[in-house]
Amino acid sequence: MGRRKFLVCACGILAAPLTVAIGYPLAASLVGTIYHQSKLQFSKTPGFDSAPRGQPIKLNFTDIETDAYLRTETSEEVWVIKHSPTEATVFSPVCPHMGCRSNWNPELKKFICPCHGSIFSITGKVEGGPSPRALDTLTHKIENGALYVQWERFETGVAKKVRV
Ligand code: FES
Repeated sequence: MGRRKFLVCACGILAAPLTVAIGYPLAASLVGTIYHQSKLQFSKTPGFDSAPRGQPIKLNFTDIETDAYLRTETSEEVWVIKHSPTEATVFSPVCPHMGCRSNWNPELKKFICPCHGSIFSITGKVEGGPSPRALDTLTHKIENGALYVQWERFETGVAKKVRV
């Protein structure tokens, strides 16, 4: 083998691992971003089993998001109305107007947003204020008495519920 051919082969052999080392994370992040749009995870939400029936209760959980090789854990909260051990309504606390957190007022029996005064019924319907739509419900499931929630965010300030 001539010297020139040897150098070409050596460069090729050295370049291959470098291509993989640089290319894999890049491809994974691109594919991961696309994949992430359609892959939401259910997070276990402790406290559902002991929740009272028929009244909103705020439950906290840890949302785990994986985007390619990055893993992020965030603490989130949802409003849960337990109808029975196997049925519930889950609302995002994020106000559809501009994204403040709505709170349940037990005296008025309404959800009220502290920022601009949107008022929502126990079913999430807008009863006052600037919110362009009802409180956003979240996908959930109940298995063996435990509640699992898919945490999502939606566009604010628009009448239609659109996932961010
Ligand atoms: S952010 Fe809730 S009323 Fe404006």
